Amino acid sequence: MMAGKPELYRDLATQLAALLADEADLVANAANMAALIYHGLPDLNWAGFYFRRGEELVLGPFQGKPACVRIPLGSGVCGTAAALAETLLVTDVHNFPGHIACDPASHSELVMPLLEDGEVTGVLDLDSPLPACFDEADREGCERLVALFVDHQRRHSR
Ligand code: SME
Repeated sequence: MMAGKPELYRDLATQLAALLADEADLVANAANMAALIYHGLPDLNWAGFYFRRGEELVLGPFQGKPACVRIPLGSGVCGTAAALAETLLVTDVHNFPGHIACDPASHSELVMPLLEDGEVTGVLDLDSPLPACFDEADREGCERLVALFVDHQRRHSR
């Protein structure tokens, strides 16, 4: 029988902690985290980071098809999540005003802000070709993974 989502995310958190270990490099760690999530969660067609550069998000390490490079804060699902500093769980991106269709196959999306001392430094974006692929267990699990990542990078940037 397939493990339930809480077990899956517990396992991913353990693997992420092991991958990050004592490495400080942001790009290397973000790249490994994107790969871990892309291959560890079912039914994704894109998983990766955008980092905040002033009033824009700029594409970071990811897995999936090539994606749009710059997203203004407040635009699309990613820019809106960054502007609100809130996770956005979108069951059907076609109903999200201003959604940016990098891959027309994407149907649902989950975007978590990277929050450092209340400031948004980027987002983690997950896309699925399935409608309503993500639920509250995914939100909780992914927010935990993002918190692990942000905390790790903060400790290692000192
Ligand atoms: N769909 C996103 C853009 C990023 S791609 O999905 C990788 C959005 O509307 O912000």
